[in-house]
Amino acid sequence: MKIRSTQFIKSATTVDACPSWIHREFALIGRSNVGKSSLINLLAWKQNLAKVSATPGKTRELNFFLMNETWGLVDLPGYGYAKISKDKKAEFLDLVADYIEQRENLTHVFVLIDSRLEPQRIDLDFINWLQGCGVAYSIVFTKTDKQSPTKTKANMATFLESLPPGKAPEETFVTSSSKKTGGVEILGFIGRKLAGE
Ligand code: GTP
Ligand code: MG
Repeated sequence: MKIRSTQFIKSATTVDACPSWIHREFALIGRSNVGKSSLINLLAWKQNLAKVSATPGKTRELNFFLMNETWGLVDLPGYGYAKISKDKKAEFLDLVADYIEQRENLTHVFVLIDSRLEPQRIDLDFINWLQGCGVAYSIVFTKTDKQSPTKTKANMATFLESLPPGKAPEETFVTSSSKKTGGVEILGFIGRKLAGE
């Protein structure tokens, strides 16, 4: 799928404030700083559509982007950022949970995992919760430019073996936003979903 147009629509801090449109939505979630906003820019082939920051906790709302005037891409706040106050953290998590549990437009969730790390409890716990929601999801390994392909492969295998036994990911993607790799595969996957496959 070629991206012909992208448009930032709005930020929402409640599910009620999400766009009232009929478009199907594909959401990106993962730990703070894992590269969600960077991946949006990679998919959109734009430098600054979503705000990227070296400071974790940058994205604090649900950010809606309209792609090709036909589908929505949603940048969700990252989980697991320790330096925000407890109340704020609960608010982010509630917002993400409400969106995933309640939003009818939601078609697929991409869970981003830092390819450099050994399996993190917080990611496995999140996936375990997601499996319980029954939502279709895929795993996207990020920042693969920061290490050798061999190391990436080994970490991916370890992570996939550590997944909780529930619903399996539909697909696994390998990406680098700085090298601009992996975006084509994700867009191809989204295109097939939109076509009803
Ligand atoms: P929050 O909004 O805080 O949850 O973070 P995020 O998941 O949106 O991460 P973001 O895209 O803002 O990226 C965080 C940092 O990682 C930035 O400094 C990015 O430049 C860097 N980064 C993201 N993706 C990659 C990648 O594929 N390779 C490398 N080398 N750096 C990356
Ligand atoms: Mg972000």
